[in-house]
Amino acid sequence: MAEIQLAPKGLEDVYVEKTELSHVDGTNGILVYCGYHIDEVARCSFEEICHLFLHGELPNKAQLLDMDRALKAERAVPAPVLDFVVHAPTDEHPMALLRTGVSMLSGYLPDVDSLEPSTLRKHAIALVAKTATIAAAICRTRSGGKLVEPDMSLGHAANFLKMSRGEKPEDVVARTLDTALVLHADHGFNASTFTARCVISSLSDMVSAMTAAIGSLKGPLHGGANTAVMAMLQEIGSVANVEPWLEKALGEKHKVMGFGHRVYKTIDPRAKHLKRMSKEWGERAGNVKWFEMSEKLESLMMAKKKLNPNVDFYSASTYYAMGIEPEMFTVIFAIARTIGWAAHIIEQLKDNRIMRPEALYVGPMGKTFIPIEKR
Ligand SMILES: CC(C)(COP(=O)(O)OP(=O)(O)OC[C@H]1O[C@@H](n2cnc3c(N)ncnc32)[C@H](O)[C@@H]1OP(=O)(O)O)[C@@H](O)C(=O)NCCC(=O)NCCS
Repeated sequence: MAEIQLAPKGLEDVYVEKTELSHVDGTNGILVYCGYHIDEVARCSFEEICHLFLHGELPNKAQLLDMDRALKAERAVPAPVLDFVVHAPTDEHPMALLRTGVSMLSGYLPDVDSLEPSTLRKHAIALVAKTATIAAAICRTRSGGKLVEPDMSLGHAANFLKMSRGEKPEDVVARTLDTALVLHADHGFNASTFTARCVISSLSDMVSAMTAAIGSLKGPLHGGANTAVMAMLQEIGSVANVEPWLEKALGEKHKVMGFGHRVYKTIDPRAKHLKRMSKEWGERAGNVKWFEMSEKLESLMMAKKKLNPNVDFYSASTYYAMGIEPEMFTVIFAIARTIGWAAHIIEQLKDNRIMRPEALYVGPMGKTFIPIEKR
C-alpha cells in the first residue's frame, strides 16, 4: 500500500473551502472583508459590517436603519438565560458562561433547526444581538451590579457598554469599541470559524455551531490571547523590566502572548489600528505605561524572534485603558466574531458537504481478546 501522507500539522497552508467573506493575505499583511480593505471598513459601524457579511455589500442608509432596528429588536434575552449568568459559580470563566448562555438560546429561537437561508439570517441577527446582551450580563454580574435593560436609543457597541457598566458611555469609548468590533468581525478560516463550519456541515443548527465556536475562541492560542497579554504585561510590571523578563521567557522557551500568526508573515493589519488606539487610550487615561511596555516588547520581539504582534497584542492595552476588565477581553472578541461565524455558517450551507477527514491509525493491531473475568 502506498504510504499515506498526512496533511501538515495544524492544517497549515491547507485550503479546505472557498469563501467570499474575508481574505487574509499573510505575505502583504492585508485583510479584506467582502472585497473591502480593512483600512477602509475600519471607518464603518459594526451594524454596517453585519449588513456587509449577511448581504455581501455595504448598506445604504435605509438598509443600515433596517439592520439597526433588527438588531435592537433582538436584544432581549430570555430570563432563564440571564438567571443562569447571575447564579453561575463566580469563578467560572466568562467565556464558559457565554458558551453556555448562547447554547441555552436554542430553546428560545423560533425554528431553531431550520437551515433555510432567510431563517438563518434571522438567527444570525438574533445571535449577534443576544450574545452582546449575555456578555453584558456576565460583565455586570462580575462587578456586582444589577442587570441593565437594553437602551434602544444606543447603537450596538454603546448599548453593550451601558448594559455592562450601568451608565451611558462617553461617545469616544463607544466609538473605540465599535471600531474594535469591526476589526475582529471575521478572519478567514481561523480555528473557531473552522469549528463553526465543521459543526454546521453535519446540518446541525446555528446555535450549536456558534456554541462550539465560542469554545474554540476561548483558548489562549486563539481569542484567549488578549486576556493572556494583559496578564503578561501586569507580570512584567514596568518598561524597565520588559527586556529582562523577555530574556528569561524566551530562554525558557515560553510563547510570548500576542505575537506570531499562522498566516501573517508581516504585521497584522488589525494590529496597526489597535496600536494607534492603544496609544490614544493610554494618553487619554493618563497612563501610557502599558502602551510603552507593549511598544518595547514589540521592538524586542522583532529583534530577537522576527515575530510581529497580532490582533490580540494591542487590543489588550487598549481595552484596559478603556476600563474593561481583562477577563472580559475574549468575550468582547466573541461579540464581534459572532457575525463572522454566522456568515460562514450560512456560506457553508450554500454548497455543503459534511467535513469528514481521516486520521491515520497508528495504534496496535491483532491483540488477543481476553474475557473480562480473565483479565
Ligand atoms: C498564533 C500561533 C498559535 C500560531 O501558531 P503556529 O502557526 O502553529 O506557529 P508555532 O507555534 O508552530 O510557531 C512557529 C515558531 O515560532 C515560535 N513562536 C510562534 N509564536 C511565538 C510566540 N508568540 N512567542 C515565542 N515564540 C513563538 C515557535 O516557538 C516556533 O518556533 P520553533 O520553530 O523554533 O519551535 C502562535 O504564534 C502563538 O502561540 N502565539 C501566541 C498566542 C497568540 O497570540 N495567539 C493569538 C493568535 S491571533
